[in-house]
Amino acid sequence: MKQDQLKQAVGIKSVDFIQDHMTVGLGTGSTVYYMVEELGKRVQAGDLTVNCVSTSQRTWDQAKKLGINMLPLDQVDHIDLTIDGADEIDTQFQGVKGGGAALTYEKIVALNSQRNLWIVDQSKQVQQLGAFGIPLEVIPFGHQQLLQRLEAENLHPQWRMDDQGQPVLTDMHNYIFDLHLDQLQHPHLLADWLDHQTGIIEHGLFLDIVNTVIVGTANGPQIIENIR
Ligand code: A5P
Repeated sequence: MKQDQLKQAVGIKSVDFIQDHMTVGLGTGSTVYYMVEELGKRVQAGDLTVNCVSTSQRTWDQAKKLGINMLPLDQVDHIDLTIDGADEIDTQFQGVKGGGAALTYEKIVALNSQRNLWIVDQSKQVQQLGAFGIPLEVIPFGHQQLLQRLEAENLHPQWRMDDQGQPVLTDMHNYIFDLHLDQLQHPHLLADWLDHQTGIIEHGLFLDIVNTVIVGTANGPQIIENIR
């Protein structure tokens, strides 16, 4: 099965976790795209009535077009469930996100959700985090100084550019740096250090956040509960 088919299968499967009248966080990315399409179908068919919040403008626009009831995050008093993709997930259920540059909104929505469900194809499962890179959202003011500081710490930062060679901008008009570390032995230590660096809005280490993962495999979607 192709990667895209695996993404589609988990995206569709994840909508079974949404119950009527829930407030649902919608993640961002190519896997979430399929989830939102399926949710839109069920909403249009009258099978589900939900309120949703979004983790990006992209997802908001897609959901709105499908007739899904969208609310700004600050107008909801709770989020029952958030469904999002991931770039890496290790055997301890720790993850990396931000390949789509939406990491800050994704983390805010995730941390305010009662449950977090990730949908991934099996290529995202890793023994140890790091090979994908660790995305950082950084403010433009002083970004060159920050880049030098990260280089001095041997964190191998790379300023993310788009296909035209222009800086990738987040929904908040910030930049993305990717740390190229290969293997990350102590994700909590790095997360703690990054949390204290002025100029970094957020990092893509999503630690101790996910409750359930649906993995796309050739034998169909596999549901794994984080019981730790
Ligand atoms: C967006 O910023 C990311 O965190 C995505 O959720 C992650 O990159 C997974 O994306 P795909 O589903 O496109 O692989």
